[in-house]
Amino acid sequence: MTDQVLRLEGEESNLSSLGFWALPKESRDRAFARLRSEDPIAYFDEPDWMFTSDGKGFYAVTKYDDVFSISRNPTLFCSGRGAVSIPDLPPQFLEFFGSMINTDDPRHGHLRKVVLRAFTPRRIELLEERIEELAKSLIAEVATKDEVDFVAEAASILPLKIICEMMGVPSDYEKYVLDRSNIILGALDDEFLPAGKTVEESLIVAAVELTALMEEIGKDRIANPQDDITTSLVTASVDGEALSASELASFFILLVVAGNETTRNAIAWGMHALDRYREQRELWFTDFEAHSSTGVDEIVRWSSPVIFMRRTATEATRIRGVELSEGDKLLLLYGSANRDEEKFSSPDDFIVTRKESRHLGFGGYGPHQCLGAHLARRELHAIFSEVSKVMPNYEVVGEPSYLFSNFINGIKHLSVRPNSSN
Ligand code: HEM
Repeated sequence: MTDQVLRLEGEESNLSSLGFWALPKESRDRAFARLRSEDPIAYFDEPDWMFTSDGKGFYAVTKYDDVFSISRNPTLFCSGRGAVSIPDLPPQFLEFFGSMINTDDPRHGHLRKVVLRAFTPRRIELLEERIEELAKSLIAEVATKDEVDFVAEAASILPLKIICEMMGVPSDYEKYVLDRSNIILGALDDEFLPAGKTVEESLIVAAVELTALMEEIGKDRIANPQDDITTSLVTASVDGEALSASELASFFILLVVAGNETTRNAIAWGMHALDRYREQRELWFTDFEAHSSTGVDEIVRWSSPVIFMRRTATEATRIRGVELSEGDKLLLLYGSANRDEEKFSSPDDFIVTRKESRHLGFGGYGPHQCLGAHLARRELHAIFSEVSKVMPNYEVVGEPSYLFSNFINGIKHLSVRPNSSN
């Protein structure tokens, strides 16, 4: 393997360095463009700043076609060996984070089936009215202010409330869920890391606390089943058996965290993009419905809120001439694939009418393709529909405050003047 190990020089292109993830997104995008053209399956040592370590580095998969084909070949590139994070997860983490996202078929398919029904397009259509009502009231409230943090007042609330309602989490616990999911996906960022705690401790405490919430709701749902996902989880029979305590905990955590962190950032990035590309805003908002489907997907492509998922080679193989051994790790870099100049013209530009290749922001169309994609699209549609009606001339004030993370491409705060005259 060492013959194949290629390195790009310097911090600017070193995905293992913590400093790389502190660079502005434009600089990181330039580094990914360089990787795509010079070293599309580049090897990096294991980062020395992760919450756990197994000593193994990874290959960064930066081209669209490779991310797509690896995602669709789970026999050769699996999810269930070690984890889909950079380091393999030790047992105390697997207890809370060893959910279906870290498993392979047939077990993965059986687990996914337990909740699949709640996320089908038909089922999401039934939620449409609720999503629209919420979006309407949030944007109406935002529009009464001179200046707001759009993330706090709208982008974080809609997806959080909807996933909590789907799971059966009482509304008093929404903030509790938000704070803990911020730690789980944002623990590298000082704003979310609890003072005096290590990343490792903080992750475990947040997971234990979310598990306690799930257990409380689950106990009630066993006695009084409801039409919610927690009832589906606690009453499920998979391969003839109920889900184990750790499967229940990790499933619940996966859904509440994935259901609110990702769409929030897509909404925030969409607001930022439409401020930066004013002519695209005008084009979209002049005939909202005509461009809504491509506009919403362009937000997800351009921002790619999930930076990567890992796969592990199950046997020796070769990609673009690079020899891989069994057990080698590959990071599927969705944001890089979504800027691949062989697939998208002017890939760095935000173009609401873009109809080219299907983007990979929700994954590479394999068995783990995002379960919440229909839901996320509905939420984005609802928010931007209201923005187009109520505050079409809004203005972003100053620079967004970005999340420091190598996994979530996030915006923590976005100051917006809803009724700008600019
Ligand atoms: C714009 C918003 C979202 C983005 C960009 C996004 C992105 C992704 C990506 C890249 C994956 C990995 C796909 C793969 O490995 O092939 C994924 C998986 C997943 N997403 Fe999303 N997601 C979003 C919203 C949501 C929402 C609202 C939910 C609701 C709960 C959700 C639930 C999940 C789940 C459960 C998985 C794992 C599926 C499996 O392992 O079978 N996501 N998502």
